Amino acid sequence: MQFTGTHILSIGQFESQDVERLFEVADRMEPYTKREKRTRVLDGAILGNLFFEPSTRTRVSFGCAFNLLGGHVRETTDIKASAISKGESLYDTARVISGYSDIIAMRHPVAGSVEEFSRASRVPVINAGDGPSEHPSQALLDLYTIRKELKITGPVENLRIAMVGDLKYGRTVHSLSKLLSLYRNIHFTLVSPKELSMPGEIVDQLLAAGHTVCQTDNMQQGLQNNDTVYLTRIQEERFANQQEADIYRGRFRLNQSIYTQHCKPNTVIMHPLPRDSRAEANELDNDLNQHPSLAIFRQTDNGVLIRMALFALTLGVAEEVEKHTEEVHWYTDKRFRKLPPMTGDQ
Ligand code: CP
Repeated sequence: MQFTGTHILSIGQFESQDVERLFEVADRMEPYTKREKRTRVLDGAILGNLFFEPSTRTRVSFGCAFNLLGGHVRETTDIKASAISKGESLYDTARVISGYSDIIAMRHPVAGSVEEFSRASRVPVINAGDGPSEHPSQALLDLYTIRKELKITGPVENLRIAMVGDLKYGRTVHSLSKLLSLYRNIHFTLVSPKELSMPGEIVDQLLAAGHTVCQTDNMQQGLQNNDTVYLTRIQEERFANQQEADIYRGRFRLNQSIYTQHCKPNTVIMHPLPRDSRAEANELDNDLNQHPSLAIFRQTDNGVLIRMALFALTLGVAEEVEKHTEEVHWYTDKRFRKLPPMTGDQ
């Protein structure tokens, strides 16, 4: 892929060599995320960060990634705070915001909306999640995390992954499945209620690419013999009403006892977050917070590296980053970079 000036809308745009290129740039971003160095390579550039749906980590990490490259961030959060609530079209919004920005990251509740927006944009647009459809930067950070956790240095092969939860509406598992389908001999175990199973066209794509797919609603069976277990939240915002989501909430839960009983030792535990920690859901229990295989906060840290790499590549400065490097002159004692224990830790 020619990254420079390209909209990043779907994992379908990527080939394995594009992923390798992105990961090589992401690796080089580590001194900046660790505050060992700073770079001003994007000094003067503006990110339009448009989030028309709730977000914590995608919105903030896109913003931090741009800031860490020396650029500035202008945010719109919430449709109600945008002229879209007055009937303005995506076309007009894109024409306006792309006149103010060098690049745009956008989340929107409707599938296909980011692609529609990008057609009117004069600058590159990155899909930060379009309804139940796709979340490409999440899939890229997830694969980057899988490789780091399993100490895989090149393309993944023979990976065994269980995806658990709402596989119908969960855009992260849609994008991650499509990304993994680029590789060889992946074994997918898809654990969900039948009503929330992975869309048939994605399963067909995985099978056509020669992968193995096992679909089940039995979590205990599904957890056996994987390298990675990837949990997801019931996407209540996609259901017609709360009561319908309640039917599925809490059906699949992973905690220390279930992990020890059913997962292979060292199975990597992942979740795109947010995890629903309310008692009636609690799909990923706090009693795993100190477990060495719990990768969820390494995923969120890796998100900044991947998003920095996406900006550097799409804005054509990937080879310029180090040339604009400076010393960090504020206090960055590494002891404080360790995560403190969380409330409720055992
Ligand atoms: N993983 C993810 O998309 O999280 P946010 O909804 O907080 O951005």
